[in-house]
Amino acid sequence: MSHQIAVIPGDGIGQEVTPAAIDVLDALEVDFEFREGEAGDRVAEETGDPLPEATIELARESDATLFGAAGERAADIILPLREVVGSYANVRPAKAYPGLEAVKPETDLVFIRENTQGVYAQIESQLTDDLATLTRVVTREASRKIAEYGFEYAEEHGYDNVTIAHKANVMQETDGLFLEAAEAVAEERGADYDTELMDALAMKLVMYPEDYDVIITPNLAGDVLSDLAAGLVGGLGLLPSANVGDDNALFEPVHGSAPDIAGQGVANPSAMILSAAMMLDHLDYDDEATRVTDAVETVLAEGPHTPDLGGDASTEAFTAAVIEQL
Ligand code: NAI
Ligand code: MG
Repeated sequence: MSHQIAVIPGDGIGQEVTPAAIDVLDALEVDFEFREGEAGDRVAEETGDPLPEATIELARESDATLFGAAGERAADIILPLREVVGSYANVRPAKAYPGLEAVKPETDLVFIRENTQGVYAQIESQLTDDLATLTRVVTREASRKIAEYGFEYAEEHGYDNVTIAHKANVMQETDGLFLEAAEAVAEERGADYDTELMDALAMKLVMYPEDYDVIITPNLAGDVLSDLAAGLVGGLGLLPSANVGDDNALFEPVHGSAPDIAGQGVANPSAMILSAAMMLDHLDYDDEATRVTDAVETVLAEGPHTPDLGGDASTEAFTAAVIEQL
């Protein structure tokens, strides 16, 4: 079956790593029709709008979207795009690749973060000059949904340990509901799981990341803990992510537009190519997803490396090596 893929390179190195990922996808036998959309600081300068309506429409009508990176207006682009694809799950793997410097080389984690509510529901009030409040929203439906996605993900990807992160001892109503709903899903599925208080989990992830696989979290906790895990595997440059909705999804590297190296042709395309692999996996091209991930892993282990990893390979040379490994 043919899939229509919206491709939004964006700003800076987004313009360099996105074509690299498309080259890798082109080297596979998959029936994708790519349609490019504009977004970013350049379009904003021309039209005043960093995310033109045509790009929103393109993302909406496509089966999936590949997004590179944006610059200064990143929040005005990526937040609406995530909403357009109706993403309820933010999937953030943090894996240490063999041969590269990592704080914790045994790390292989996948965060499954609730992406719509909690303290990021944006219900805030400034009541007086000196008092502001925030409403935290948790529904049983959204909590069940993220738990179902997390347990399904663990099963499909052969991960044994599923951990539900929460702080239900303090946020008894909201995280109490999140935990209760997630545990009910586990019990219905007959799945094994652990629960961890999110603050204790932060410490344990630093000390014993090898004890964890898939971690299901409320919104804010997932945001913080997945960045912490990024630090364990050597920073944001190699990390892909997915924003998954019911009929649509958006895949993007965790990094930004990297203005300090943009235009030099030396950006590391790994995070973007691994994001494309997550897209393949999501669209049920499981074998192709594994081939791409394995190829990136091999090139990261054997070289050539881009300058961020101490090598002198260009984006193109790295990408060519990945394609050769396919
Ligand atoms: P950044 O991720 O763009 O760069 C941080 C550092 O990592 C820089 O030294 C950069 O050269 C390096 N780096 C990042 N990705 C790399 C790659 N693929 N290969 C080699 N080196 C890489 O974050 P920064 O500097 O905080 O933000 C720069 C711009 O990006 C800002 O305008 C910010 O708003 C935007 N941004 C956009 C995001 C998005 O589109 N999702 C996310 C984060 C930042
Ligand atoms: Mg974050």
